[in-house]
Amino acid sequence: MTNRTEGGLPATHREVRLAARPQGPITDDLFEVAEVPVPRPAPGQVLVRNTTMAVAAVMRTLMDEVTPVPMPSFVVGEPLHGSAIGEVVEAPGTDFAPGDLVEHHFGWREYALVDAAAVQRRDRDLLPDPAAYLSQGPTAYMGVVRGAEVRAGDTVFVTGAAGGVGSLAGQIARLRGAVRIIGSTGSQRKADILVKELGYDAAVIRGAGPIEEQLRAAAPDGVDAVFDNVGGDQLQAAIALANRGARIALVGALSAQLSGSGAHTTEIDTLSLLARSITLRGIALYDHLSLIPEWNEQFGRGLRDGTLTFPHTRLHGIEEAPRALMELIEGRHMGAVLVEL
Ligand SMILES: NC(=O)c1ccc[n+]([C@@H]2O[C@H](COP(=O)([O-])OP(=O)(O)OC[C@H]3O[C@@H](n4cnc5c(N)ncnc54)[C@H](OP(=O)(O)O)[C@@H]3O)[C@@H](O)[C@H]2O)c1
Repeated sequence: MTNRTEGGLPATHREVRLAARPQGPITDDLFEVAEVPVPRPAPGQVLVRNTTMAVAAVMRTLMDEVTPVPMPSFVVGEPLHGSAIGEVVEAPGTDFAPGDLVEHHFGWREYALVDAAAVQRRDRDLLPDPAAYLSQGPTAYMGVVRGAEVRAGDTVFVTGAAGGVGSLAGQIARLRGAVRIIGSTGSQRKADILVKELGYDAAVIRGAGPIEEQLRAAAPDGVDAVFDNVGGDQLQAAIALANRGARIALVGALSAQLSGSGAHTTEIDTLSLLARSITLRGIALYDHLSLIPEWNEQFGRGLRDGTLTFPHTRLHGIEEAPRALMELIEGRHMGAVLVEL
């Protein structure tokens, strides 16, 4: 980005494109970093200099051509997309002004050209770190409050507890009055962090023996609320241990999304659901967008008074974005995974 235009903008910027669809594990050669001209906004459009973008597990799903998730798949030869924050550079004919902090869905590029209607203005003072707008907190909050309806006195099981969603779901469940919170993760190292740093009371470990046995030992009196990010044997274990009237929120399906097995089904004994009046509720943020301002208020307050933390990892430079996604899928990070651009 050496050449500059008369307005001081660089002549070119970089974007990450999908080079090919995965047939197996996610590898470098499925991505291409391309240098392209910085776009110029027409009236009604906003040119944003992206400062930070997030990668997330759903992006592995969106690399496939056809998916059940209510988001467009990535297109071969075109830049990937996903949440990003940045500063407005130019916004002719809109309510935005240069310097405004904004969030939008056109990450994976250094400069984004976005229709004004698809740009959300963000308050610089609400969160102590603007990157926290990229947390998976809205999903975690939705799943705890409206999905699992966590109440005071609950024992709660969060699957995928160390990820972007799960690392906040446990903290939010505690603030809603849960008395015992158990999380699942993929290694002893992460299990230790869940208990020592993220407020979990106990952890069960994927690959360290039957989850149901581990969960029975961690929750001898059963579980009242479940925040399921994983599905498969973890959901089966949650149902086996669910108390009468338990609420189970189906928020993610990491075992199907990331295992590469292609298996998308979980066998469930429906008789045990109805016999114990268990609620199984699929829930998606798209239907609960109105919760986002409420969450941001609570997140800002919680980060400042120390009742919430934002577990995350940051990588630097757009060329690191493919590695960030690959490492997230491999389970190498705790919390959200962000890339500074
Ligand atoms: N319903 C909604 O509106 C909504 C919105 C956003 C996200 N989601 C979903 O919420 C879930 C969590 O999202 P996230 O972005 O926070 O993901 P994430 O948990 O950060 O995903 C990465 C983690 O998945 C775990 N993992 C890897 N392979 C796995 C496997 N085979 N089985 C089980 N876990 C595996 C690893 O954690 P460990 O090493 O700890 O196992 C890894 O660190 C995803 O399913 C996502 O699609 C739903």
